[in-house]
Amino acid sequence: MAAIANTVIPLPILTLFLLCFTLANSIDFHYPAVFNFGDSNSDTGGLTAGLGFLLDPPNGQMYFKPPSGRFCDGRLIIDLLSNFLTDNLQTHYAAALSFPLFVLKHLYLHFYFLYIPWFQHSSMDAMDLPFLNAYLDSIGSPNFRKGCNFATAGSTILPATATSVSPFSFGVQVSQFLRFKARVLELHAKSKKVDKFLPKEEYFGKALYTFDIGQNDLAGAFYSKSFDQILASIPTILLEFETGIKRLYDQGARNFWVHNTGPLGCLPQNVARFGTDPSKLDELGCVAPHNQAARLFNLQLHALCKKLQGQYLEANVTYIDVFTIKYNLIANYSRYGFEQPIMVCCGYGGPPLNYDSHISCGQTKILNGTSVTAKGCPDSTEYINWDGIHYTEAANQYVSSQILTGKYADPPFSDEMPFLLPLKF
Ligand SMILES: *[C@@H]1O[C@H](CO)[C@@H](O)[C@H](O)[C@H]1NC(C)=O
Ligand SMILES: *[C@@H]1O[C@H](CO)[C@@H](O)[C@H](O)[C@H]1NC(C)=O
Ligand SMILES: *[C@@H]1O[C@H](CO)[C@@H](O)[C@H](O)[C@H]1NC(C)=O
Repeated sequence: MAAIANTVIPLPILTLFLLCFTLANSIDFHYPAVFNFGDSNSDTGGLTAGLGFLLDPPNGQMYFKPPSGRFCDGRLIIDLLSNFLTDNLQTHYAAALSFPLFVLKHLYLHFYFLYIPWFQHSSMDAMDLPFLNAYLDSIGSPNFRKGCNFATAGSTILPATATSVSPFSFGVQVSQFLRFKARVLELHAKSKKVDKFLPKEEYFGKALYTFDIGQNDLAGAFYSKSFDQILASIPTILLEFETGIKRLYDQGARNFWVHNTGPLGCLPQNVARFGTDPSKLDELGCVAPHNQAARLFNLQLHALCKKLQGQYLEANVTYIDVFTIKYNLIANYSRYGFEQPIMVCCGYGGPPLNYDSHISCGQTKILNGTSVTAKGCPDSTEYINWDGIHYTEAANQYVSSQILTGKYADPPFSDEMPFLLPLKF
């Protein structure tokens, strides 16, 4: 935030920008809190806290500086979304995100990095942290008033096994939420002081419940199952997901926001392991069976969302097609200001993938008798992929901006949004 003082955008340009934003789609959700469930795509520090390990730099470098527990160089989609889902002032932010990135990438990023933190900073008191705190992270002064994040990297929908990366599979995350809620109500009954740190009782019914999980169920299955077996297992995976949603609904959750799974065949980890046979690659260089499994999973997930919406008449179930946004980004990367669609920014091995499964981002290891380091690239905003499995902050910004157009949502939401924003200048 200190950088803001050093860099000044001329006021006329800023005003012009804000006018453009004002006329662009705006968004105003007014949710008092967000409760998130998922895997590394939305883990804000859960797995590192839960298992007790530290990520290496340059994870976090673009925004948090030291590693933040996120498998990313900066903010995740949930970081970018949750701010304005819960805060009216963040309407600026939403509008800013919908400005076409490819027209003025640098000015855009300028605005994004310098002014948005300033909005956040100036609009929130010191206790009001701008990001969702991980349920498992007790260090610092976690504040759960506007929500809580149960997502942990490596988590699956299906129950974890002895070889799972994360023991905190979806059912466990839902149980953690139920305990969270019970404890919050208990503490409210005892003292008014907890209001600053914990959600109010009525928030649980009004909150947005967000989900981004399933990728690890599919990706993991490719190591031990045939393609047909994987496709056949999708209904079982989704039944477990449905069970979790029902448990939340029974506890009063009413607003559900479900991200579908991304094109995991485009992740360098999978390209390196399953893409050695060129006949398995699609026109973008992604592993076709992986993406086909993801598409099939998403079709059934979408149908499940429709079914739940039909059953829960007083609830809102929103399905978000993240797959299409990410696949389009990888296909048309240069139009959105990127230079590398698949190659890893923070990895080892050099082109074409710069990925080696033996060594993860930031690590130094002896490989074949030589000490090597998986280093970050000079400019991660040119890359879509951060570490072989996760997206860069720059890519997450693009994806968030597309989610906010409402076009990839079912039901779509942009039409319902107000046109004019309350400007605070
Ligand atoms: C569902 O969405 C509609 C329209 O956006 C809104 O009026 C309604 O309050 C929402 N339902 C709940 C339970 O929040
Ligand atoms: C890339 O952009 C073109 C032009 O907008 C579009 O027709 C095409 O569908 C995009 N590719 C993908 C894979 O989305
Ligand atoms: C180590 O050396 C072997 C044999 O030369 C080679 O196949 C392998 O790819 C090397 N591994 C790494 C990580 O460089």
